[in-house]
Amino acid sequence: MLSIIVAYDQNQGIGIKNSLPWKLTDDLKNFKVLTQNNYIVMGRKTFDSIGHALPNRKNIILTRQKKYTQENCTVIHDIHDLLNLVREKPQYEIFIIGGAEIYQAFLPYVDRLYITKVNTIKKADTFFPQWDEKLFKRIGQRHYLQDDKNECSFDFEVWEKTNNNTTM
Ligand SMILES: NC(=O)c1ccc[n+]([C@@H]2O[C@H](COP(=O)([O-])OP(=O)(O)OC[C@H]3O[C@@H](n4cnc5c(N)ncnc54)[C@H](OP(=O)(O)O)[C@@H]3O)[C@@H](O)[C@H]2O)c1
Repeated sequence: MLSIIVAYDQNQGIGIKNSLPWKLTDDLKNFKVLTQNNYIVMGRKTFDSIGHALPNRKNIILTRQKKYTQENCTVIHDIHDLLNLVREKPQYEIFIIGGAEIYQAFLPYVDRLYITKVNTIKKADTFFPQWDEKLFKRIGQRHYLQDDKNECSFDFEVWEKTNNNTTM
């Protein structure tokens, strides 16, 4: 199964100067729990912003640089290599973890969206692409209050594709 996991604000902003615009500890915890022991797929710029492979996950980086390598990461150059992996590994949930370019590339193929809707508008230079809610059904949601660990309130939502006829 192919899933996107993203946190965006009320303008669908996701990043500023190659980092996250907010500090939401409970959202990072959800991210960690969901992605543990699964595959995570990220664009080269998102890898740069994290700076290292995330432990206990199979890290995949997408780049057009043919000689690019990173310790403990698999590097791919074509989204179809990843779509083949999704077919070959049905026992895994494969998470597209960003950024904007990678979300855009995989959005037509995903089965599930995990969206953290952050209840604020931050200065951003990177945005999640527009997506059609009519193609998905919301199957879960949970509200988180602003507190000392989460700088704003947010809603964590899970959406599933209703018509999965997109051919890979
Ligand atoms: N809020 C969130 O949930 C969230 C999650 C993740 C990231 N972010 C934020 O998003 C921002 C980064 O996003 P971004 O859109 O600038 O960069 P990105 O998607 O992380 O990475 C873009 C890079 O990926 C590679 N790439 C893209 N499409 C490709 C393709 N079809 N084939 C092969 N390689 C491809 C290219 O690497 P090369 O240039 O090396 O060829 C490209 O420069 C940061 O601010 C980050 O903090 C936010």
